[in-house]
Amino acid sequence: MARVTIQDVARAAEVSPSTVSNFLNNRSERMVAATRERIERAIAELGYRPNRAARQLRNGRSQTMGLVVPSVGNPFWGAFAREVEVAALEMGCNVLLCNSERDPDRERRYVEELWEDGVRGIILCTSLPSLEHVGHVIKEGLRLVTFDRPAQPNDPASVVSISIDNNVGGQIATSHLLELGHTKIAFVSGSIRSVNRSARYRGYCDALEAAGLSPDDMPVWAGTDATRFGDVEAAQVGRNAAHELFREGADAPTAVVAINDMTALGFCRGLRDLGLEVGVDVSVIGFDDIILADLYDPPLTSVRQPISQMAKLAVAEAVDPGANGSNEPGRSVLLRPELVVRESTQSK
Ligand code: RIB
Repeated sequence: MARVTIQDVARAAEVSPSTVSNFLNNRSERMVAATRERIERAIAELGYRPNRAARQLRNGRSQTMGLVVPSVGNPFWGAFAREVEVAALEMGCNVLLCNSERDPDRERRYVEELWEDGVRGIILCTSLPSLEHVGHVIKEGLRLVTFDRPAQPNDPASVVSISIDNNVGGQIATSHLLELGHTKIAFVSGSIRSVNRSARYRGYCDALEAAGLSPDDMPVWAGTDATRFGDVEAAQVGRNAAHELFREGADAPTAVVAINDMTALGFCRGLRDLGLEVGVDVSVIGFDDIILADLYDPPLTSVRQPISQMAKLAVAEAVDPGANGSNEPGRSVLLRPELVVRESTQSK
Protein backbone atom coordinates (compact mmCIF):
# COMPACT_ATOMS: atom_id res chain seq x y z
CA MET A 1 0.00 0.00 0.00
CA ALA A 2 1.48 3.37 -1.10
CA ARG A 3 2.49 5.69 1.71
CA VAL A 4 -0.07 8.51 2.29
CA THR A 5 1.67 11.80 1.54
CA ILE A 6 1.24 15.35 2.75
CA GLN A 7 -0.13 16.14 -0.75
CA ASP A 8 -2.90 13.52 -0.30
CA VAL A 9 -3.90 15.17 2.98
CA ALA A 10 -3.84 18.65 1.40
CA ARG A 11 -6.12 17.53 -1.45
CA ALA A 12 -8.59 15.86 0.93
CA ALA A 13 -8.68 18.92 3.22
CA GLU A 14 -8.81 21.33 0.25
CA VAL A 15 -5.77 23.30 1.46
CA SER A 16 -2.18 23.68 0.23
CA PRO A 17 0.58 21.24 1.31
CA SER A 18 2.35 24.14 3.09
CA THR A 19 -0.82 24.71 5.19
CA VAL A 20 -0.73 21.04 6.21
CA SER A 21 3.02 21.37 6.97
CA ASN A 22 2.32 24.40 9.19
CA PHE A 23 -0.37 22.39 10.98
CA LEU A 24 2.04 19.46 11.52
CA ASN A 25 4.80 21.75 12.83
CA ASN A 26 2.52 23.53 15.31
CA ARG A 27 2.58 26.73 13.30
CA SER A 28 -1.23 26.96 13.08
CA GLU A 29 -1.98 29.72 15.58
CA ARG A 30 -3.38 31.92 12.78
CA MET A 31 -5.33 29.04 11.16
CA VAL A 32 -9.18 29.19 11.44
CA ALA A 33 -10.77 26.35 13.39
CA ALA A 34 -12.64 24.98 10.34
CA THR A 35 -9.35 24.55 8.45
CA ARG A 36 -7.68 22.77 11.39
CA GLU A 37 -10.69 20.46 11.67
CA ARG A 38 -10.62 19.61 7.91
CA ILE A 39 -6.89 18.77 8.15
CA GLU A 40 -7.37 16.65 11.30
CA ARG A 41 -10.25 14.78 9.61
CA ALA A 42 -8.20 14.14 6.44
CA ILE A 43 -5.23 12.84 8.49
CA ALA A 44 -7.51 10.48 10.43
CA GLU A 45 -9.45 9.22 7.40
CA LEU A 46 -6.31 8.69 5.26
CA GLY A 47 -4.23 7.29 8.15
CA TYR A 48 -1.40 9.72 7.42
CA ARG A 49 1.78 9.21 9.50
CA PRO A 50 4.13 12.19 9.29
CA ASN A 51 7.62 11.01 8.28
CA ARG A 52 9.72 13.04 10.65
CA ALA A 53 12.82 11.76 8.89
CA ALA A 54 11.88 13.40 5.57
CA ARG A 55 10.79 16.63 7.26
CA GLN A 56 13.87 16.92 9.42
CA LEU A 57 16.23 15.87 6.66
CA ARG A 58 14.68 18.60 4.45
CA ASN A 59 15.21 21.32 6.99
CA GLY A 60 18.17 19.62 8.69
CA ARG A 61 16.55 20.14 12.03
CA SER A 62 17.11 16.67 13.53
CA GLN A 63 18.95 17.09 16.80
CA THR A 64 18.89 13.39 17.63
CA MET A 65 21.18 10.51 16.70
CA GLY A 66 20.87 6.77 17.24
CA LEU A 67 23.21 4.36 19.01
CA VAL A 68 22.75 0.58 18.74
CA VAL A 69 24.99 -1.48 21.08
CA PRO A 70 24.99 -5.25 21.80
CA SER A 71 24.09 -4.81 25.50
CA VAL A 72 24.71 -2.23 28.21
CA GLY A 73 24.65 -5.32 30.47
CA ASN A 74 28.35 -5.52 29.56
CA PRO A 75 30.18 -2.63 31.31
CA PHE A 76 32.21 -1.92 28.16
CA TRP A 77 29.04 -0.99 26.26
CA GLY A 78 27.57 0.95 29.17
CA ALA A 79 30.74 3.04 29.35
CA PHE A 80 30.83 3.49 25.56
CA ALA A 81 27.18 4.60 25.51
CA ARG A 82 27.95 7.24 28.13
CA GLU A 83 30.94 8.55 26.17
CA VAL A 84 28.80 8.74 23.02
CA GLU A 85 26.16 10.76 24.87
CA VAL A 86 28.78 13.16 26.29
CA ALA A 87 30.22 13.72 22.80
CA ALA A 88 26.78 14.04 21.17
CA LEU A 89 25.51 16.59 23.71
CA GLU A 90 28.67 18.66 23.08
CA MET A 91 27.54 18.74 19.42
CA GLY A 92 23.97 19.68 20.39
CA CYS A 93 22.58 16.23 19.68
CA ASN A 94 20.49 13.87 21.85
CA VAL A 95 20.99 10.09 21.72
CA LEU A 96 18.41 7.29 21.35
CA LEU A 97 19.99 4.08 22.74
CA CYS A 98 19.04 0.53 21.62
CA ASN A 99 20.39 -2.89 22.68
CA SER A 100 20.55 -5.44 19.86
CA GLU A 101 22.07 -8.51 21.61
CA ARG A 102 23.97 -8.78 18.29
CA ASP A 103 20.79 -10.12 16.66
CA PRO A 104 20.80 -9.00 12.98
CA ASP A 105 16.99 -8.78 12.93
CA ARG A 106 16.94 -6.55 16.01
CA GLU A 107 19.73 -4.44 14.52
CA ARG A 108 17.65 -4.04 11.34
CA ARG A 109 14.41 -3.18 13.22
CA TYR A 110 16.13 -0.60 15.44
CA VAL A 111 17.94 1.04 12.49
CA GLU A 112 14.64 1.25 10.55
CA GLU A 113 12.79 2.68 13.58
CA LEU A 114 15.50 5.25 14.30
CA TRP A 115 15.49 6.28 10.63
CA GLU A 116 11.71 6.66 10.70
CA ASP A 117 12.13 8.80 13.82
CA GLY A 118 14.27 11.19 11.80
CA VAL A 119 17.69 10.73 13.43
CA ARG A 120 20.66 12.64 12.03
CA GLY A 121 22.80 9.49 11.88
CA ILE A 122 23.35 6.15 13.62
CA ILE A 123 26.36 4.50 15.29
CA LEU A 124 25.82 0.75 14.87
CA CYS A 125 28.05 -1.38 17.14
CA THR A 126 27.96 -4.62 15.25
CA SER A 127 30.45 -7.42 14.77
CA LEU A 128 28.69 -8.80 11.70
CA PRO A 129 30.85 -8.87 8.57
CA SER A 130 27.92 -7.84 6.34
CA LEU A 131 25.69 -4.74 6.52
CA GLU A 132 23.21 -6.22 4.04
CA HIS A 133 20.47 -6.24 6.71
CA VAL A 134 20.53 -2.43 6.90
CA GLY A 135 21.61 -1.67 3.31
CA HIS A 136 18.11 -0.58 2.26
CA VAL A 137 18.07 2.22 4.85
CA ILE A 138 21.58 3.36 3.90
CA LYS A 139 20.34 3.60 0.29
CA GLU A 140 17.53 5.91 1.49
CA GLY A 141 20.17 8.31 2.80
CA LEU A 142 20.91 7.18 6.38
CA ARG A 143 24.34 8.28 7.64
CA LEU A 144 25.75 5.10 9.23
CA VAL A 145 28.91 4.71 11.29
CA THR A 146 29.89 1.20 12.35
CA PHE A 147 31.83 0.76 15.57
CA ASP A 148 33.84 -2.24 16.78
CA ARG A 149 34.55 -3.57 13.30
CA PRO A 150 36.85 -2.35 10.52
CA ALA A 151 35.39 -1.63 7.07
CA GLN A 152 34.54 -4.81 5.17
CA PRO A 153 34.91 -5.35 1.38
CA ASN A 154 31.17 -5.18 0.64
CA ASP A 155 30.28 -2.25 2.90
CA PRO A 156 28.29 0.55 1.20
CA ALA A 157 30.68 3.33 0.13
CA SER A 158 29.06 5.90 2.44
CA VAL A 159 29.73 3.94 5.65
CA VAL A 160 32.58 5.00 7.97
CA SER A 161 33.98 2.33 10.32
CA ILE A 162 35.73 2.99 13.61
CA SER A 163 37.39 0.28 15.69
CA ILE A 164 40.37 -0.68 17.77
CA ASP A 165 43.05 -2.56 15.83
CA ASN A 166 42.12 -5.96 17.21
CA ASN A 167 44.98 -7.86 15.60
CA VAL A 168 47.50 -5.49 17.24
CA GLY A 169 45.58 -5.85 20.51
CA GLY A 170 45.86 -9.63 20.40
CA GLN A 171 49.59 -9.33 19.67
CA ILE A 172 50.15 -6.86 22.54
CA ALA A 173 48.37 -9.14 25.05
CA THR A 174 50.23 -12.28 23.98
CA SER A 175 53.65 -10.61 23.66
CA HIS A 176 53.31 -9.31 27.22
CA LEU A 177 52.88 -12.89 28.52
CA LEU A 178 55.73 -14.19 26.33
CA GLU A 179 58.01 -11.48 27.77
CA LEU A 180 57.12 -12.77 31.26
CA GLY A 181 58.46 -16.18 30.20
CA HIS A 182 55.15 -17.97 29.57
CA THR A 183 55.17 -20.49 26.72
CA LYS A 184 51.88 -22.34 27.41
CA ILE A 185 49.33 -19.57 26.79
CA ALA A 186 45.61 -20.31 26.38
CA PHE A 187 43.07 -18.21 24.44
CA VAL A 188 39.63 -17.94 26.07
CA SER A 189 36.51 -16.48 24.45
CA GLY A 190 32.85 -16.98 23.69
CA SER A 191 32.07 -17.55 20.04
CA ILE A 192 35.00 -16.34 17.88
CA ARG A 193 32.73 -15.85 14.83
CA SER A 194 32.72 -12.05 14.97
CA VAL A 195 35.05 -9.90 12.86
CA ASN A 196 36.83 -8.37 15.83
CA ARG A 197 37.17 -11.52 17.91
CA SER A 198 38.70 -13.45 15.04
CA ALA A 199 41.14 -10.54 14.55
CA ARG A 200 42.12 -10.64 18.23
CA TYR A 201 42.64 -14.41 17.97
CA ARG A 202 44.74 -13.87 14.80
CA GLY A 203 46.91 -11.39 16.72
CA TYR A 204 47.39 -14.01 19.48
CA CYS A 205 48.49 -16.56 16.85
CA ASP A 206 50.79 -14.05 15.11
CA ALA A 207 52.61 -13.27 18.38
CA LEU A 208 53.04 -16.97 19.22
CA GLU A 209 54.40 -17.76 15.74
CA ALA A 210 56.77 -14.77 15.90
CA ALA A 211 58.15 -16.34 19.09
CA GLY A 212 58.58 -19.71 17.39
CA LEU A 213 55.58 -21.30 19.11
CA SER A 214 52.64 -23.06 17.43
CA PRO A 215 49.05 -21.99 18.23
CA ASP A 216 48.09 -25.63 17.63
CA ASP A 217 49.97 -26.53 20.81
CA MET A 218 47.95 -24.10 22.92
CA PRO A 219 44.59 -24.63 24.67
CA VAL A 220 41.79 -22.59 23.01
CA TRP A 221 38.35 -22.26 24.64
CA ALA A 222 35.69 -20.75 22.34
CA GLY A 223 32.67 -21.34 24.56
CA THR A 224 30.20 -24.17 24.21
CA ASP A 225 27.49 -22.31 22.27
CA ALA A 226 28.71 -20.90 18.96
CA THR A 227 25.47 -18.96 18.59
CA ARG A 228 26.09 -16.81 21.68
CA PHE A 229 28.67 -14.04 21.69
CA GLY A 230 28.38 -13.79 25.45
CA ASP A 231 28.20 -10.03 25.96
CA VAL A 232 26.17 -10.51 29.10
CA GLU A 233 27.24 -14.06 29.93
CA ALA A 234 30.97 -13.30 29.42
CA ALA A 235 31.92 -13.77 33.09
CA GLN A 236 30.24 -17.19 33.23
CA VAL A 237 31.92 -18.19 29.96
CA GLY A 238 35.27 -17.30 31.55
CA ARG A 239 34.50 -19.12 34.78
CA ASN A 240 33.47 -22.27 32.87
CA ALA A 241 36.67 -22.05 30.83
CA ALA A 242 38.83 -22.04 33.98
CA HIS A 243 37.09 -25.13 35.32
CA GLU A 244 37.60 -26.87 31.94
CA LEU A 245 41.24 -25.89 31.31
CA PHE A 246 42.29 -26.75 34.89
CA ARG A 247 40.28 -29.93 35.33
CA GLU A 248 42.03 -32.95 36.84
CA GLY A 249 44.80 -34.24 34.56
CA ALA A 250 44.53 -31.42 31.99
CA ASP A 251 47.72 -30.09 30.36
CA ALA A 252 47.06 -26.70 31.93
CA PRO A 253 48.47 -23.38 30.67
CA THR A 254 50.48 -20.99 32.87
CA ALA A 255 48.87 -17.91 31.27
CA VAL A 256 45.63 -16.92 29.55
CA VAL A 257 44.61 -14.28 27.00
CA ALA A 258 40.88 -13.55 27.43
CA ILE A 259 38.76 -11.97 24.65
CA ASN A 260 37.62 -9.18 26.99
CA ASP A 261 37.75 -8.10 30.63
CA MET A 262 34.42 -9.62 31.67
CA THR A 263 35.58 -13.00 30.38
CA ALA A 264 38.94 -12.51 32.12
CA LEU A 265 37.30 -11.63 35.46
CA GLY A 266 35.07 -14.70 35.21
CA PHE A 267 38.16 -16.79 34.46
CA CYS A 268 39.90 -15.35 37.57
CA ARG A 269 36.85 -16.32 39.66
CA GLY A 270 37.04 -19.83 38.24
CA LEU A 271 40.72 -20.07 39.24
CA ARG A 272 39.74 -19.02 42.77
CA ASP A 273 37.06 -21.75 42.80
CA LEU A 274 39.90 -24.21 42.19
CA GLY A 275 42.18 -22.76 44.88
CA LEU A 276 44.57 -21.24 42.30
CA GLU A 277 46.04 -17.75 42.77
CA VAL A 278 45.69 -15.25 39.92
CA GLY A 279 49.08 -13.89 38.88
CA VAL A 280 51.07 -16.32 41.06
CA ASP A 281 49.76 -19.66 39.70
CA VAL A 282 48.22 -18.42 36.45
CA SER A 283 48.66 -15.07 34.67
CA VAL A 284 45.49 -13.59 33.16
CA ILE A 285 45.18 -10.66 30.72
CA GLY A 286 41.91 -9.13 29.54
CA PHE A 287 40.88 -6.65 26.81
CA ASP A 288 39.00 -3.30 27.10
CA ASP A 289 40.26 -2.00 30.48
CA ILE A 290 36.77 -1.51 31.88
CA ILE A 291 36.45 0.18 35.28
CA LEU A 292 36.19 -3.21 37.07
CA ALA A 293 39.64 -4.27 35.81
CA ASP A 294 41.48 -2.04 38.30
CA LEU A 295 39.02 -2.81 41.10
CA TYR A 296 39.48 -6.60 41.04
CA ASP A 297 41.86 -8.30 43.49
CA PRO A 298 44.45 -8.69 42.07
CA PRO A 299 43.89 -5.82 39.60
CA LEU A 300 43.61 -7.10 36.03
CA THR A 301 46.19 -6.46 33.34
CA SER A 302 44.31 -5.41 30.21
CA VAL A 303 44.56 -4.02 26.67
CA ARG A 304 42.84 -0.64 26.84
CA GLN A 305 40.40 0.63 24.23
CA PRO A 306 40.40 4.49 24.17
CA ILE A 307 36.58 4.62 24.26
CA SER A 308 36.28 8.37 24.86
CA GLN A 309 38.43 9.16 21.81
CA MET A 310 36.63 6.56 19.68
CA ALA A 311 33.20 7.81 20.82
CA LYS A 312 34.07 11.38 19.82
CA LEU A 313 35.24 10.21 16.38
CA ALA A 314 32.10 8.11 15.84
CA VAL A 315 29.70 10.86 16.96
CA ALA A 316 31.37 13.45 14.74
CA GLU A 317 31.02 11.16 11.72
CA ALA A 318 27.38 10.36 12.55
CA VAL A 319 26.31 13.95 13.27
CA ASP A 320 28.49 16.06 11.01
CA PRO A 321 30.69 14.30 8.38
CA GLY A 322 33.80 16.29 7.83
CA ALA A 323 33.95 17.27 11.51
CA ASN A 324 36.89 14.90 11.83
CA GLY A 325 38.63 16.78 9.08
CA SER A 326 37.64 14.33 6.38
CA ASN A 327 34.26 13.32 5.07
CA GLU A 328 35.84 10.68 2.92
CA PRO A 329 33.12 8.00 2.82
CA GLY A 330 34.12 4.40 3.31
CA ARG A 331 36.88 5.30 5.75
CA SER A 332 38.08 2.72 8.22
CA VAL A 333 39.63 4.30 11.30
CA LEU A 334 41.67 1.84 13.36
CA LEU A 335 43.07 3.03 16.68
CA ARG A 336 46.01 1.39 18.45
CA PRO A 337 45.19 -0.10 21.87
CA GLU A 338 47.61 0.24 24.79
CA LEU A 339 48.80 -2.26 27.39
CA VAL A 340 47.90 -1.54 31.03
CA VAL A 341 50.03 -3.80 33.28
CA ARG A 342 48.63 -4.77 36.72
CA GLU A 343 49.16 -7.64 39.17
CA SER A 344 47.16 -10.35 37.34
CA THR A 345 50.18 -11.06 35.09
CA GLN A 346 53.49 -12.09 36.59
CA SER A 347 56.65 -13.92 35.53
CA LYS A 348 56.28 -17.67 35.01
O1 RIB B 1 33.43 -6.44 26.27
C1 RIB B 1 32.78 -6.18 25.10
C2 RIB B 1 33.67 -6.52 23.96
O2 RIB B 1 32.85 -6.68 22.84
C3 RIB B 1 34.68 -5.43 23.67
O3 RIB B 1 35.97 -5.98 23.59
C4 RIB B 1 34.28 -4.87 22.35
O4 RIB B 1 35.40 -4.65 21.49
C5 RIB B 1 33.35 -5.92 21.79
O5 RIB B 1 34.00 -6.75 20.92
